[in-house]
Amino acid sequence: MKRILSGIKPSGDLNIGGYSGALQQYVAMQHEYENFFFVPDLHAVTVPQDPLELYHRSKEIAAFYVAAGVDPAKSAIFLQSQVSAHAELGWLMETQVHFGELSRMTQFKDKSDGKDAVSSALFTYPALMAADILLYQATHVPVGEDQKQHVELTRDLATRFNNRFGETFTVPEPIIQDLGCRIMSLDDPSKKMSKSNPNKNSYVLLLDEPDTIRKKLSRAVTDSEMSVRYDPENKPAVSNLLEIYSIFSEEPISVIEKRYEGQGYGGFKKDLAEAVISKLEPIQRNFREIIDSEELVRILKDGAERASAVANETLLKAKKAMGFLTF
Ligand code: TYM
Repeated sequence: MKRILSGIKPSGDLNIGGYSGALQQYVAMQHEYENFFFVPDLHAVTVPQDPLELYHRSKEIAAFYVAAGVDPAKSAIFLQSQVSAHAELGWLMETQVHFGELSRMTQFKDKSDGKDAVSSALFTYPALMAADILLYQATHVPVGEDQKQHVELTRDLATRFNNRFGETFTVPEPIIQDLGCRIMSLDDPSKKMSKSNPNKNSYVLLLDEPDTIRKKLSRAVTDSEMSVRYDPENKPAVSNLLEIYSIFSEEPISVIEKRYEGQGYGGFKKDLAEAVISKLEPIQRNFREIIDSEELVRILKDGAERASAVANETLLKAKKAMGFLTF
């Protein structure tokens, strides 16, 4: 049986990077797997969060899953904090991970860089992420490139635990698509597209209005060559726009390159904006319908129940293996 576990943190407004590296993969892959798509709200509080914002953003991420096409009948959609096995196995995984391993995590280094007060949870975060995945015996974890190191560590921890305590966890495989696994900032193609960038024109949000999307994409940096050609090394900015175009129009890059052969960037950027807008429009419409509905609450309650059944079973198995009394 093939099983997926994945999620998007409710720590900021969702941008097209998260859509490209994660959400659109969930939608595309869901029919071939048994799926657990969760909102990692416990991960969001590893950095300071305004309670009201956390509340709304957690609901929003869940609503985006449904709005983009994740089928709640097929996939369990739930909030991490509503399945207490996550926190419990997270602690047990902290006992297995080494300080040195956590110190090597590039995301911790990036997020703690220059800050004088960093929570210890930000440091131990990958142990909780390993628990998220291992609780569901996930065989596959679709993520963007920046999460690869965390999934690799999860594999190491699963193997270590199984060797020490007996076969308990499935060792998961990351699924990182070739295109769109690392969407870069529109103002600087050397940086990942991220909502923490103070320049609002550097990202497109899933809830941006059409005119905002047109404006942001028309201002995206390119280069002086004036040819629409995919060459990530020498033309990182244009290649990034081509990846976005390909993800949103569902056309191969070669077809897009051909269409703009011998032309500059003006028409290409305009059409790119329309491709993004036409994909986001129905998602935004569905989002508005579901965000304040009883239906969303029902989906999340049902998802948490389905998730808990699987997670509690794995937790019990892990606790027994470690020697805890479980009567
Ligand atoms: P998060 O919330 O930062 O990102 C959610 C997903 O979106 C991908 N992503 C991107 N992909 C392409 N280009 C970008 N610019 C971009 N920005 C984000 C991320 O790679 C990710 O797949 N630690 C995780 C959340 C998490 C999780 C898990 C994921 C917690 N437990 C278990 C999978 C399985 C995170 O912070 O992702």
